[in-house]
Amino acid sequence: MRVDRFLSNLSRFNRRQVRLLLVERRVSVDGVVVSDPHHEVREFSRVCVDDDVLQAGKPARYFMLHKPQGCVSATVDPQHPTVLDLLDEPDKHELHIAGRLDFNTTGLMLITNDGQWSRRLTQPQTKLPKVYRVETEQDIGPQYAQTFAAGLYFAFEDLTTQPAELTLLGARTARLSIIEGRYHQVKRMFGHFNNKVIGLHRERMGPLVLDATLAPGQYRALTAEEIRQV
Ligand code: URA
Repeated sequence: MRVDRFLSNLSRFNRRQVRLLLVERRVSVDGVVVSDPHHEVREFSRVCVDDDVLQAGKPARYFMLHKPQGCVSATVDPQHPTVLDLLDEPDKHELHIAGRLDFNTTGLMLITNDGQWSRRLTQPQTKLPKVYRVETEQDIGPQYAQTFAAGLYFAFEDLTTQPAELTLLGARTARLSIIEGRYHQVKRMFGHFNNKVIGLHRERMGPLVLDATLAPGQYRALTAEEIRQV
């Protein structure tokens, strides 16, 4: 929200007063004086007028988890353990998953309370690659790479997937980089060739790589640099 709207909404100041406060350089956001009425205020921002704290701002939180098999990418599930059960953190209900994985898929999972940040990571428009190591039941044919690069038509969504890059690592293993994350996308892409995916592991989302020191089920907070990269 714009800082002028934020201040007007408090009902403590009218619009004219808000304009003046900004011009008089009495407003600060995160410790920095702000005079631009368009300056963005978020739930995480600390907003002051003179020495009055109008919003304390809550901490933005970011975690990477090595998702193990056999847990669901949901915040609650009546039957199975969820990825949030693996986190020993307060106020877990405020957290959400940036890019779900199937029950038996392993690998990089990002969890945060910052919706803008997770949207940047998962929206197809930002074109951040999601990189998977895939293991299949049958040999991966030479025609797969070209078909994936051209895009596959998904009738259910009535869309053609964005170009994906396939690199063979063995007869039945490959690395696949995709831009969007449609429902069961990787399995459906291999399903086009009637080739079942029997192992799926996410190695990377955009600039963020799964920390090799994290065993399945372990997690850690992202570093300031990792958060900034998205
Ligand atoms: N594609 C799939 O089919 N499953 C996943 O878990 C992730 C991508």
